Parts: sequence; C-alpha cells; structure tokens
Amino acid sequence: MKGIIKKSLTEEYLYLDFSHQTEGCIFPLHTSVALFLLSYCDCKIFKVCLVLTGENTDVSLLKNVLSQDGEVQIIPRQELPPIVQNCRLPAAVERPDNFCRAGLAVVLRHMIQKTYEADPSRKEILELLGFKKTCLKACAEVSQWTRLCELTIPLAIENFLSKPSGQRPPIPAEILQLEKKFGEPVRVHNDDKLRRQKLKQQKAARAGPSLAKDKPNGRVHGQETPDELDPWAESLELTVAFSKLRAQEEPATANREPARIRKAKASDLPPLEHVFAEGLYFTLTDIVLLPCIHHFLLIICKELTEKLVEFPLLATWYRRIQEVPRVRTAASQCGIHFFHLPELVATSNEQHPSFSEAPGVEEQNDPSFIGGPRPTMTKLMEKGIEVMFSPHPCPTWTLDWDSLPAAVSPKEGKMSSDRALRKQQQLNNLVYVVTSQAKPGDKIVDFCSGGGHVGIVLAHMLPLCQVTLIENKELSLIRAKKRSDELGLSNIWFIQANMEYFTGMFNIGVALHACGVATDMVIEHCIEARASFVSCPCCYGFIQNTSKFNFPKSEQFKKTLSYKEHMILCRFADQTAVQLPPQRRLIGKQCMCLVDLDRARAAEERGYSVQVISMEPESCSPKNNMIVGVPI
Ligand SMILES: *[C@@H]1O[C@H](CO)[C@@H](O)[C@H](O)[C@H]1NC(C)=O
Repeated sequence: MKGIIKKSLTEEYLYLDFSHQTEGCIFPLHTSVALFLLSYCDCKIFKVCLVLTGENTDVSLLKNVLSQDGEVQIIPRQELPPIVQNCRLPAAVERPDNFCRAGLAVVLRHMIQKTYEADPSRKEILELLGFKKTCLKACAEVSQWTRLCELTIPLAIENFLSKPSGQRPPIPAEILQLEKKFGEPVRVHNDDKLRRQKLKQQKAARAGPSLAKDKPNGRVHGQETPDELDPWAESLELTVAFSKLRAQEEPATANREPARIRKAKASDLPPLEHVFAEGLYFTLTDIVLLPCIHHFLLIICKELTEKLVEFPLLATWYRRIQEVPRVRTAASQCGIHFFHLPELVATSNEQHPSFSEAPGVEEQNDPSFIGGPRPTMTKLMEKGIEVMFSPHPCPTWTLDWDSLPAAVSPKEGKMSSDRALRKQQQLNNLVYVVTSQAKPGDKIVDFCSGGGHVGIVLAHMLPLCQVTLIENKELSLIRAKKRSDELGLSNIWFIQANMEYFTGMFNIGVALHACGVATDMVIEHCIEARASFVSCPCCYGFIQNTSKFNFPKSEQFKKTLSYKEHMILCRFADQTAVQLPPQRRLIGKQCMCLVDLDRARAAEERGYSVQVISMEPESCSPKNNMIVGVPI
C-alpha cells in the first residue's frame, strides 16, 4: 500500500493566520512553520485556509509562495467556524465542528499523527515526535522549552524582522538563549552506550591520526561532509543522527569494547554534542525553528554580518539542517530559499557552562521551614487573617446519580467504585454551585477538563447552556468526546489547547483540581473575561512565582507575609492525605484555607465577591476546597 493515501473519513480543516508577507516570509511565523511542515510531510489530508487578520491584506504575492497549486483557500476571519473563532490560530478542526485543536505545538503534532495514520509506511514522519513521542508535548504553560520554541522565539524574530533595516532592535535575548542551549550537553536515552563509543573514538584519535581515520563508525571518511569547517564533521553524534535519517542501521558495535572503555565511570565519559535542536535526532522542534532561524540569519547576513560570530552553533545547525533528506525541497516549495552562510572565522567550540541550579536543596536547609507553619499562621492571625470557611450553600444536595444515563457518571471507565463515589461527591459540590448560577444561554468553560467529568455532567444538566471543555491531553479529550457522543450531547465543544489559546467570552469558568498555578491561571482567565469562577485547587506545593503571578497575590497578604513565609503555607497545605495523622491533616487543611484566602482576596481586589468553601463531605477528596467568585 506504500504511497497510497487512504482517504480519511472526516474532513479536516487547518486554519492559519495570514497578516502579511515580506520577501518570501509569511507572517505570522507560525504560518510559515505550519506550511513548511505540510510540505515536508507532503500532507494532503487537510483543507488549508489562510485567515486574513488585517482589513486590506495584500494577497497578490501569496501565489508565488504557495506552490500547493490553489489548494489553499483564503478566507476572512468572520468565516471561521464558531469554535475556531474562540481560539488562537493555528487551529485544526474536524467536521462536524465540535473538536478543535489550537496552538502551534498541538496542531503540528496532530498533522504528524494524521500523516502517519494515513500512510503508516512513513515511519520517518512519526519519528519527528522523538523518543516516546514527547517532542513539544508538554504545554507552554508548564514547559520553558515549549514556551521558547512555540512562543517566544517566533515572536521575538517577528518583532526583529518587522522593523525596517537601520532600525532593527537589539538581537533578541531568546536567540542568544537558543545558541546557548545548543551548546549544552545532550541527553538521550541510550546516552551511556554512545558516550562510551565516543570515548573509544577519542582515545583512538589521540593514539594517532592514522588510527582515527580508520572509520570507527563504518563511514567512509569525507564521504558526506560537505562542510569541512564543521567542527563536528566527523563526530559520532553526526553519524548516528544521519544514519537514522537515512534509515540505515545504527553503526554496529559488534566488537566488545576494551575493558578501560567498558569500565569507565559515567562521570568520565565525554558529553554528547547537539546535532539538532533537541539533541541527536531531527525532530519537530527543528521544523519549528527552521523558518524562524532562516529569516533571522538572512537579516544578520545582510545587515549585521559582524554579529554572525555570536551564533556559531546556530550557523552550524543551519547548514546541517539543509542536509536532512527532503528539507531543501520542502523549503523551496513554501518560499524558503536557503542561502550560503559566510564561513565563520574559526571560533572555539567552547562549552557554555550550564548553570544547574538545584532548587529545593537550599530550601531544605533553610531554618524557616523547620518551625512548621505555626509562626506564619500566628503572624496572619495578628493581622486579623484567620482560617475561616464560608458556609456551604447546600451541604446535603446531590445529583440523582442512579437516574442519570451511565455515561454521565464518573463510574464509566476504569475507576474503582470507591474513587468513583468520591468523584461523584466532588461533582455534587461543583454542579450545585454552577447550576444555581447559570442562566439559559450562558457559556460555561471547563478548564483542565481531563476526561470531562465536570463538563459532561454540566452539559447534560444544563441543555440550554453551551459547555466548552479545554484540555491539553489529546487522549483525555478524545475519551470525553466519546462519552459525550454516547449521550448525544449537542451543546458541547472540545478544545485541545493551552487555556491561554482559548480567547472566547464566557460566563462561568470551572476547574476541578487544576494543579498548582493552573488554578491561578484559570481564575485569571475568568477575571479577564469578567466571568464567575468555581475552582477546586490542588498541588499547593507546586505553587511558585511565574512570569504572570507572584505570591502572595493579595495586597493584604503581601503586607504581612514574605514570599518564603507564603511558600511555607503552600508546602504544608499539601499535607492532607488520609494516611497522615489527624493533627497534621488539620494543619494542612488550615494552610490550604489560607493559601486560598489569599487567592480570594486578590480576586476581591479586582472587583469580585469571593468565597472559600469546604466541599461536602470533607472526605470527598484530600483537596476539598472550592473557591467561588462572582463579579460585582
Ligand atoms: C516572588 O515574587 C515576590 C513578589 O514580587 C518577590 O518578593 C519574591 O522575591 C519572588 N520570589 C522568587 C523566588 O522569585
């Protein structure tokens, strides 16, 4: 069946922003990246739509760039399906329109999956997702690496490119950061084996150049190294990476290593160097970076040649990437024309020191954590801040679970009956609060929806409301959709994306057990939309300052507690597990209350009426707080 593309049953659309283009570069860069991946995969599964972001965007030049012969449609924003109008692009949608994937990383990963499913002989496409298929899977809200590749680098380069020559801003810090990353040692899963091979090579090389040329990896010397100046031209790393790309066997290591190699301590083995962005292998990350770095280096070479020496590793990467099979063709099909980088004056390939901060170590020895949370709690009490829950509005209310269709209940799936019962109890609390607030026509968003326990019950109970599930994990969301399809729900949307990429307006936001600062992100999203929120936090121990939030959050707490003191509360707030002694759990519960009171106060300072309520029965979860906020 090789080469025959099976027709997929559902029609699938890919929506990409189009703002403008200059010299072969389509803006925003996310669109350049997606088009490049389409060419690289030779993927014809999607109907591609460019969505005009400006009023009078000039599309006359586009035809030159899109050699995909008229298969690309150009549409105004108003023509987007409603679900996509609520998301940032790029987005991919299956017809019928209730399941949408949004955001660069999610959409690109999906394109790869789809290409492979349509033609499973194309394993090399699936390998773009890397070992364990995790490439760019951790979302930008939690992974700094994803954030860098998906958001900050494309944005920084767009900003750099959009200024006219002569007024270019300084080199973006993000690019310097990337250059530095490329210099850090590589970790791969068979690390140790490769490093031992490398050690053997190095010893051979030291023994004399004639030995070193003795093809230690079975590769003929000089055969496939176009660039003699490439400092890694003969490296083991390069051989391994390219033999994988050319679908050859990895170099055989039939010979048993000499004892001094076999027995070398791991710490004495040489580090592996980057061949591609994530390490040895060509991955999706390289595809994301390619249009970005290409356009960046183009400007550097034209206008700021003297700066090129600051990017020896990026330059090497740029030359190397062109040697990857099919990359040149794919690039030229979407308007990226590689150019010749001037040779760099021999720069030392020095290792950047990697500053491995070890958080936690310092904290553990920190005397302030030893006394426990009591001094902190006393301090708050002296300022009139006490552990105090708002009364539960209806402690005994419960859904009539037995009369509900089976697929509504969390009993579905592999959950043990005990866990399912407690999940039902948690849902009773949330559903009561939401249903007592919701009006017909309201839009309700279930953030971090997972498999849809909350959202599906709400959609079933509130047929006149529109419920949107937002979740980053594809499999959870597909499970949710399956349950929803069984129930025949028509008032529900599924969005696989970071919550940041959901831009729609809504009336009520819900989150059950959003981890650490995810709770704060949900509350923030709700406040920005002036929506009510009902949020049950968890994982207090993960709370820390982020680019968006500093703790404590509220003026009232800030006046009283230092960051460290607040972190003590967070640390102890996690000690509510059932197996802990009752006294510890009580203190844990009190700390939970105080951390959530800080969140509540912060929302009050922004025009909300907020209550921190303890869910009923308390045994429904060790994380049994509920923060309920209503705009006033
Ligand atoms: C967190 O933010 C607070 C408030 O800006 C600041 O005082 C504190 O030093 C920060 N802590 C860390 C570890 O960054």
